Amino acid sequence: MKKYRVAVLAGDGIGPEVMREALKVLRALESRFGMEFEFRQAAVGWAGIDAAGKALPEETLAECDAADAVLFGSVGLPGRDATLPKDERPERAALLYLRKHFELFANLRPVRLYPGLNHACPLKDSRIGSGIDIMVVRELTGGLYFGRPKKTEEYVVVDEEGPGGKRVLLRAIDTMVITTEEIERIAHVSFEAARLRRKKLTSVDKANVLENGVLWRDVVTEVGKSYPDVELEHVFVDNASMQLILNPSQYDVLLCENMFGDILSDEAAALAGSLGMLPSASLGETSEESGIRFGLYEPAGGSAPDIAGKNLANPIAQILSAALMLRYSFGEEAAARAVELAVEKVLTQGWRTGDIASASDEPAKRVGTSQIGDAIIASLD
Ligand code: IPM
Ligand code: MG
Repeated sequence: MKKYRVAVLAGDGIGPEVMREALKVLRALESRFGMEFEFRQAAVGWAGIDAAGKALPEETLAECDAADAVLFGSVGLPGRDATLPKDERPERAALLYLRKHFELFANLRPVRLYPGLNHACPLKDSRIGSGIDIMVVRELTGGLYFGRPKKTEEYVVVDEEGPGGKRVLLRAIDTMVITTEEIERIAHVSFEAARLRRKKLTSVDKANVLENGVLWRDVVTEVGKSYPDVELEHVFVDNASMQLILNPSQYDVLLCENMFGDILSDEAAALAGSLGMLPSASLGETSEESGIRFGLYEPAGGSAPDIAGKNLANPIAQILSAALMLRYSFGEEAAARAVELAVEKVLTQGWRTGDIASASDEPAKRVGTSQIGDAIIASLD
């Protein structure tokens, strides 16, 4: 019997209720696939601040350290976040901290418009074309997010009319920085992902303007020589954002710098009908000792406090995130596929939460968070 220890960080807003469904689904897999989960719930975000004074309490970090993987819900409550200094806000103090602390450099965001959800996609059917099935691979621990210096400072300019002949402004500085090594490792992840899919990799950069982009393009091209079976193309980020809505079915794997990936993955998410459909995996290196690849798995949507606690949230992104955990951290491909197929079945049968509902749905199949979880369990083979 394989045993997996999972740190469960449900967090704020809809986090706890969508997490409940994901855990239910994982439990339902135990006997079917001969595995056992030890779920270690720990507080994060405002749940952490309220319980232990910090968005990422020490005990929570210790649970993550001791776990084989982290299943993450969502953190942050916009109204309350603004009351804290920016470094203590949940998104920075918990989520960005965890990504950097565990060096989770590879963020995989599979974007798929499921059968029966074309109505929820903002594109016309003619643009949806042969379908939308894209893996956004985002570099997650470098680039513009983490480069130093990163600060806001006073900046003095000469101004003859100002007091003392000068004027003091503020200026904000962020730094985009990336090394060959960082590009290489994320490029390898992307080529490997493409190999298991339609064997096409589109690397996104801004090589016409940024030094970062020139290096990115050179290194990705070099890494590509080891993957002659994968077709590689390069595209500027502005063009990529346009192509995504003009002709999304041309893309298979999209490889992006941290900030570009943040932006393009939200754009791609809209194409999948709802943020509530999008899982993500943030991966580090595989441990040589255990063979387990530590990762943090989270839905792409936020904490959605407006609908929290009402059994309205779509739990599918959280459930699909659990499937990604099975695949990437535990190598349990069959169990991961079983979850994904069950999700597909439930959608094909017409079960819908509000975010993916349409006027033509059977009213009886418009259901809440927990009913979707039940329906997915009932559809597991
Ligand atoms: C994401 C989110 C985060 C990011 C925020 C919450 C810090 O937008 O995971 O895409 O910018 O990376
Ligand atoms: Mg984002």
